[in-house]
Amino acid sequence: SKWKAIKNVTKIGTVGFIGFTFYNMYEHSHPVMNPIPADSSKKTIVILGSGWASTSFLKSIDTELYNVVVVSPRNYFLFTPLLPSTTVGTIDHRSLVEPIRFITRHKPNEVKVYEAECTEIDSDKKIITIVDNSEVKGDRATSTIPYDYLVVGVGAQSQTFGIKGVEEYGCFLKEVWDAQKIRTKLMDCIETAAFPGQAPEEIERLLHMVVVGGGPTGIEYAAELHDFLAEDLSAWYPELVGKIKITLIEAMPNVLPAFSKQLIDYTESTFKEQHISLHTKTMVKEVKEKEIIVQGPSGEKEAMPYGLLVWATGNTTRPLIRNLMAQHPETQNIRRGLAVDDWLRMAGANDIYALGDATATKYAPTAQVAAQQGKYLARVFAQLHATEQYENELENAATAEEKAKKARKLQKAQDIKPFHYSHQGSLCYIGSDKAIADVPFGPGNVAAGGVATYAFWRSAYISNLFSARNRWLVITDWTKKTFWGRDISRE
Ligand code: FAD
Ligand code: NAI
Repeated sequence: SKWKAIKNVTKIGTVGFIGFTFYNMYEHSHPVMNPIPADSSKKTIVILGSGWASTSFLKSIDTELYNVVVVSPRNYFLFTPLLPSTTVGTIDHRSLVEPIRFITRHKPNEVKVYEAECTEIDSDKKIITIVDNSEVKGDRATSTIPYDYLVVGVGAQSQTFGIKGVEEYGCFLKEVWDAQKIRTKLMDCIETAAFPGQAPEEIERLLHMVVVGGGPTGIEYAAELHDFLAEDLSAWYPELVGKIKITLIEAMPNVLPAFSKQLIDYTESTFKEQHISLHTKTMVKEVKEKEIIVQGPSGEKEAMPYGLLVWATGNTTRPLIRNLMAQHPETQNIRRGLAVDDWLRMAGANDIYALGDATATKYAPTAQVAAQQGKYLARVFAQLHATEQYENELENAATAEEKAKKARKLQKAQDIKPFHYSHQGSLCYIGSDKAIADVPFGPGNVAAGGVATYAFWRSAYISNLFSARNRWLVITDWTKKTFWGRDISRE
C-alpha cells in the first residue's frame, strides 16, 4: 500500500506539473488584448526598475486600484542567481530573461512601460525626468512623468572603491551584457594565447583569469570557469589546458562571510582541489591593462599579470539615488543607499517608497529580500487605497450605525503591518557539481555541501524561475550541455 500511495502521489504530481506547464504556456501566449485604459480619477504609481523588487511589486499590485507606469532602461526581468552560468555558456542568457510586458499585458488594466532611465527625481514637484539611453533614439529622447506615488527599485551598481583602472579594464558581473562581455573576452584570451609564436610569458598572462571578490558572485563565477575549463576547454585546447590558471583575490581572511564556518572551509578545500588559487587578506590596489597591483598580508605590493579580470566586490549606490539623497541631507545620511522605515517609506520624502538593493536596511542586498519587499509593498498600497475609500465613506455615512461600521473598517485598513523578512536560506555553487546551502531549520540552521546539495540548488532555482518558459529553457540548456558540452565560439 506504501508503493501504491507513492505511485498515486507521483501520478498526481506529474499530471499537476503538465497541467501547470500548459496553463503557463497558454498564459504566456494570451495577453489581455483590450486592457482597461488609465483612469484620471485614480492615483498613479510610477515604478522605477524591472529587477527583483520592482517586478515582484508589479506582479502583485492591483491595477484596478491605481494607474501604473513602469520606467526601466531594460525592458526585461533578469533571473540573476543563474547569471554566472551564462558567462561560460552553461545556460543561454535568453533563458533567464522575461519581457516586462509579459507581466503588464496580463493585467486587466493598462500599464504603461517606458524603456528609459530615470535621471532625476523632483520630490517636491512629484515629477521624474526620463531619458532614452538606448542606442536607437528618436527625435525625442527626454521626457517628464508626474506621479502620485513613486516606487524606487533601481538596484545598485558594481562597487569599485574608486580603484584606478577597474572601470576601464575589469569586467563586472551584474547584467546580461556583463556576462556576454566576460564570455567574449575569455574566448578571446584563449584564442590569442594560441596565436602562432606567442611568447611563453605572454601565453601565461593571457591564460591567467583573475576574479576579485570572494562573495557569492566571485565564488560562483570562479566555479563556473573551473567547470568550463575541466569539462570543455581541456578537450578543445589540449595544448593550452595545463597553462590556464584561475586566481581568486579576497581582501578579508576568508571567502563567503555570510556562510557558516564549516561551509567556508568546505568551499576553500573544494577550490584547492579544483586548483583555483585563493589569495585571502589580499587587496587589489590598482588595475592596469595587463597587470594588477595587489597588496598581500605582508603589506608588500606585487604586480600580477592577467588576461581576464572579473570584478565582484559588491554594490554601491547609483547616481540617481545619490542625487535623491542629496535633496534630503537631514534624513538621508547612510551612504549604502536610501534610508526607509519599516513600511518602506523613504525617510524625509512624501509618497516615495523604496525597496531592494537601492535601500540601506538591516537586510543583505539579495533577491530574496527584494522580492519579498515587492510583494509586501503591493499589500501596503491595497491598504492605502482602502484607507482612502473608507475615509470617504465614513464622511458620507448617513447613520450612526453605518459610521461605526465604516470606522471599524477604516481602522483595520490603517493598521498596516511593518515589513517582515522570512529568510529561506542561502545557496552557492562552488564547482564540480557541488553546492553549499545554509538553510534555516527550526531554531537553528542546517549547513550542507556537496553533490546532493547541488541537486537541491538546481531544483530550488528551477522552481524559482520566472515562468514555465524559463524553466523549460534552463532544463533544455542543462541537457544540451550534458550531451554536447558548452559552445566555445567567440561571439
Ligand atoms: P535589480 O534586480 O538590480 O534591478 C534594478 C532595476 O532597476 C533594473 O531593471 C535596472 O535596469 C533598473 N534601473 C537601473 N537604473 C535605473 C534608473 N535610473 N531608472 C529606472 N530604472 C533603473 N540574490 C539572491 O537572493 N540569491 C542569489 O542566488 C543571487 N545571485 C546573484 C547572482 C549575481 C551574479 C548577482 C549580480 C546578484 C545575485 N543576487 C542574488 C542578488 C540579487 O540579484 C539582487 O539583490 C537583486 O537583483 C536586487 O533586486 P533589485 O530589484 O533591488 O535590483
Ligand atoms: P559581496 O559584497 O557579497 O562580496 C564582495 C567581496 O569582495 C567581499 O568579500 C569583500 O571583502 C571583497 N572585496 C572588496 N574589495 C576588495 C578588494 N579591493 N580586493 C579584494 N577583495 C575585495 O558582493 P557580491 O558577491 O557581488 O554579492 C552582492 C550581493 O548579492 C550579496 O548580498 C550576496 O549575498 C548576493 N548574492 C547572492 C548569491 C547567492 O546567494 N548565491 C550570488 C551572488 C550574489
